[in-house]
Amino acid sequence: SAQDAAAGKTSFNKCLACHSIGEGAKNKVGPELNGLDGRHSGSAPDYNYSDANKNSGITWNKEQFLEYIKDPKAKIPGTKMAFAGIKNETEAQNVWAYISSFDKD
Ligand code: HEM
Repeated sequence: SAQDAAAGKTSFNKCLACHSIGEGAKNKVGPELNGLDGRHSGSAPDYNYSDANKNSGITWNKEQFLEYIKDPKAKIPGTKMAFAGIKNETEAQNVWAYISSFDKD
């Protein structure tokens, strides 16, 4: 819901050091996250992924994202994303509600 997405926007502050999303989003330490729903792992243009992320064979959707964000290194061993993850399921779902509200730009 819009309410969940609003909560997710606040939690996305944890991601902002490395990721941008929305109009004019650019790759930073991590890839920009526009259009993540349905996007193949490792496919943001001009971003230099690790082989682990690039070759993980994931198509991002809610289920895949929730599994990833609770423990990124468990889902993608060898990822260079230096982030412990979001352990709280509700918070993770809210972050997905926020992220998935952005289409490809
Ligand atoms: C990759 C989400 C926090 C750095 C990714 C990917 C997702 C993601 C979905 C894979 C993208 C793809 O395959 O195109 C998030 C979310 C975060 C978060 C939702 C906050 C809750 C962070 C933080 C950092 C970071 C804090 C930096 C300290 C990276 C890097 C990659 C990445 C470097 C590329 C990994 C690789 O190529 O191995 N992130 N991230 N992320 N993220 Fe994050």
